[in-house]
Amino acid sequence: MSENVFELPTKLLIGHATIDEDHARLVRIINETGHALQKKQFQESTRLIVEFIEGMKAHFVTEEDILMETKFPWIEEHVASHRQVILKLPRLIDDSEKVMDGEQGWNKLVDELVECLMDDTFKADMMFKSFLEKQST
Ligand SMILES: [Fe+2]
Ligand SMILES: [Fe+2]
Repeated sequence: MSENVFELPTKLLIGHATIDEDHARLVRIINETGHALQKKQFQESTRLIVEFIEGMKAHFVTEEDILMETKFPWIEEHVASHRQVILKLPRLIDDSEKVMDGEQGWNKLVDELVECLMDDTFKADMMFKSFLEKQST
């Protein structure tokens, strides 16, 4: 197995087991996609991209439930940021076809997957992390 194309920095651990496990699973899918694309295993990479898209959507549902349970005060903003990411997801399929046709490099597609995940993990979930930290003190 070649090296990981992407690793989630530990400072991006939220401190909620379910959320962190979901993020870690999405990171694994990104890495597997990168390896499949590198080896031109396009059937596998397409399957993984679909799994990533479905995984992101399922993650948002799970996360929004947790935000509600914990009475996170900025839930509306957070849900809106999830919607923004959902709008970007179908583009991944188009760009995956471009990679297969040789019109786009595979690294750029992996960057797009990372960007979708980071939009959630880095931009939105960090707010929830500081909220959780304040709750526990
Ligand atoms: Fe989120
Ligand atoms: Fe998240």
